[in-house]
Amino acid sequence: MFGFRFGPPKFSLGVDIGSSALKYVMLKKGKTGPEVVAAGIEAYPEGVFVDGIMQDPNAISQMIKNIKKEQNLKFEQVFTSIASQNTILCFLPLPEMEDEELKHAIEGEAEQYVPYPLETVNLNFARLAKVEQDGTSRLLCLLAVAQKEQVESIVGIFRSVGVKQLDALDIDSLAIINSLEKFMKRKSGAGDEAIAEEGDEPMGTMSGVGPSGDIGDDEVVAIVCIGARSTIINVLKGHVLRFSRNVQISGNNITEVIRSVYKFTFTEAETTKIEKSVASVQGEVDQEFLDVVHTTIEEIAGEIRRSFDYFKAQHREPLIHRVILTGGTAKIKDIDKLLSSELSVEVVLGDPSIGLIRSLPSEDAFIENLQQYSVAIGLALRGVEAND
Ligand SMILES: Nc1ncnc2c1ncn2[C@@H]1O[C@H](COP(=O)(O)OP(=O)(O)OP(=O)(O)O)[C@@H](O)[C@H]1O
Ligand SMILES: [Mg+2]
Repeated sequence: MFGFRFGPPKFSLGVDIGSSALKYVMLKKGKTGPEVVAAGIEAYPEGVFVDGIMQDPNAISQMIKNIKKEQNLKFEQVFTSIASQNTILCFLPLPEMEDEELKHAIEGEAEQYVPYPLETVNLNFARLAKVEQDGTSRLLCLLAVAQKEQVESIVGIFRSVGVKQLDALDIDSLAIINSLEKFMKRKSGAGDEAIAEEGDEPMGTMSGVGPSGDIGDDEVVAIVCIGARSTIINVLKGHVLRFSRNVQISGNNITEVIRSVYKFTFTEAETTKIEKSVASVQGEVDQEFLDVVHTTIEEIAGEIRRSFDYFKAQHREPLIHRVILTGGTAKIKDIDKLLSSELSVEVVLGDPSIGLIRSLPSEDAFIENLQQYSVAIGLALRGVEAND
């Protein structure tokens, strides 16, 4: 193929290869802000993901090819992410130093945190914030580690659809934070320009995890993303990421319980879960069914609580002030209220669409699934922010 493009890129595509469905969002840079010009959620054919592990990258390439054709996607800038369950994130307080020196220091530290030979992994780092530790000023850094094999498999999917070089290979847990930056600023009324430090290649920009504008508040906010297989728990203080953990209990566990109580197949249970949660929004409540769902949500809350307790003990923080909820499972009716009472903290549904102009033909479907689009939006935003 032969083609030209004059001027800077206009389009930015975020592709979230989640374990239950592929989500994509394409943003167009506009004078008044980024505009959502395409978005979708596509289920995988049978066998593409088994037990959360990607088994058939070729099928995913084929899906992306089909979506590109049908939705007229532009591959000017393409951002995707690796699942946080396949990465290691470490928070390292280090003495202040120049980038090159910092890189060596972090590589030196990495050995003790990485359970694989270092030559088999990709490392990346970001400066997060200056912190006080035992009376000494330290630079808090985030080290991200992913196995080369995993990175290669994702890069390969995009190479085979014609994307020679991804603009960034992010981590889903960090993309979520990026998607909710505007929402958090609106909620806390803090400053508006994000200033983020960048790590080096090849694991992506890791922007949106560092200091944001002139935020001086000490508010401790948790961003909890409940997907299909895993629940991501991020804790930020003053908009700086301080803690990130992934627990393997999520929407699929709810489906499993429905399957076993009602003797359904997994697919039947999944369909019923979604139908009933939609019906209960419309007022047709099946209380017995909701009780079954709520039992698993209480278990998920238990895992979140354990992570919060660990964070609080480790950081000597007495309180999490607020939880922002996202991910596909956030769509279950009243999950925010239930989690709030289980965790004794305010829980709000995150809105990753703040600041985006929407002009999609399928607007209702996009709004209905906003939380499920968090990762894809956070990814696509990298492209429009980078060019501002
Ligand atoms: N209306 C709904 N009611 C209840 N659950 C829903 C609804 N819509 C989607 N879900 C659930 O959300 C989950 C999918 O969410 P999401 O797309 O965020 O996960 P994923 O990215 O595929 O998974 P992971 O990140 O864990 O690999 C599934 O478990 C699905 O059943
Ligand atoms: Mg996901």
